[in-house]
Amino acid sequence: KALQEEIKSAVVSNLEEVDELRIRYISKKGSINKLFADFKNVPAEQKKEVGKAINDLKDFALDKINSLKESFESNGNSDIGSDLTKPGEPMKLGTRHPLAIVKNEIISIFGRLGFTVAEGPEIEDDWHVFSALNFPPEHPARDMQDTFFIEKDPDVLLRTHTSSVQIRVMERTQPPIRAIFPGRVFRNEAISARSHCIFHQIEGLYVDENVSFADLKQTLLYFAKELFGEDTQIRLRPSYFPFTEPSAEMDVSCSICGGEGCNVCKYTGWLEILGCGMVDPNVLEACSIDSKKYTGFAFGMGIERITMLKYGIKDIRHFFENDVRFLKQFESAT
Ligand code: PHE
Repeated sequence: KALQEEIKSAVVSNLEEVDELRIRYISKKGSINKLFADFKNVPAEQKKEVGKAINDLKDFALDKINSLKESFESNGNSDIGSDLTKPGEPMKLGTRHPLAIVKNEIISIFGRLGFTVAEGPEIEDDWHVFSALNFPPEHPARDMQDTFFIEKDPDVLLRTHTSSVQIRVMERTQPPIRAIFPGRVFRNEAISARSHCIFHQIEGLYVDENVSFADLKQTLLYFAKELFGEDTQIRLRPSYFPFTEPSAEMDVSCSICGGEGCNVCKYTGWLEILGCGMVDPNVLEACSIDSKKYTGFAFGMGIERITMLKYGIKDIRHFFENDVRFLKQFESAT
C-alpha cells in the first residue's frame, strides 16, 4: 500500500528521472522484486491475496513509468510544466553565409562613399549583357561555350557578369549616378576548386561631370584599405574590357604574407581582385547619356574570390554545398 502511494506521487522532470524510477521499483534489485522475494514468508492462507496485490502493484508501476516515458519522449524530453521557473532552453540561431558577410561589408564600405545599391535580373537579353556594353558581334563571350542560353533569336540568357546592371541603371537614370550592383552571375565553366558555373559579383558605377581616372584610383584605394586593412597597397595593371577605355586590373598587396611572398600570391606579393576602367563613351551613348558632357568609371569584382582571400578558403565549392561544419565557422563574423 505504502509503496503504491509512493509510486503514485513520484514526481519526475525528465527521461533520466523516469529511468531512475524504473530502477528503483521494477528492476531486478527494485523494491517490488524484493516483495516477490519475501513472498515465500507469507502464510499460505494469505498467499493468494498478497500475490495478487504485488502483481497489481507491479502492473501499476509499469503503467505509470511507461506513460511518463512516452510523454517525455513526445515532448522532446522537455520538462515544461513541472517547473515553470526553470530558464528556457536557448534556440540555436543560424549564421550568415560567408558570401553575405563579405557582400554586406563591401556594400557598407561603398555606402560610406555615397554609393547606393541597385539590382538587375539574372535572366537577361543580348543587349544588356553584350551589345550595349560594346561587345563586338563576334566576341567569344557570346559563344555557347561561355554563356548559358535559355533561348536563341531573340537571345535569352543568364547574365555572365553584373555589368548588365550598369546598362539597366543608365537606361533609366541620368547622371549623377553612383551605385553598386551585387548579384549572381553564370558562366558555362567546368566546376573545380577555383571556378564555378555560378558565382557572385559586385559591380560599381560612377557617372557624372568630370569623373576622372584619379577618382577611380582613389575610390579603389579607399575600398582596399577598408576591406583588407590600412596597410594594404594597390596597383593597377593595364587590361582590356569592351565597355571600359582605358581598362585596368587591380591587385592588392597580399594580406597573408604582407608582400613577402607566399603560396596564395604565388610569391608575387600581389593578388588580383577586380577589373575596372573608364566607361567607354559608346556605352554611355547606348544608354542615351551625353558622352561629351559626362564621364564615368566602373569596376567589377568576384565576391567568392575576395571571400576566399579574406578567410583563407581554398575551395570555391564550399560556398555552395551548405555543409554546416563549414558555415558555422562564420558564427562570430558580423
Ligand atoms: N565585367 C567584368 C568581368 O566580369 C568586370 C568589370 C566590370 C571590368 C566593370 C571593368 C568594369 O570580368
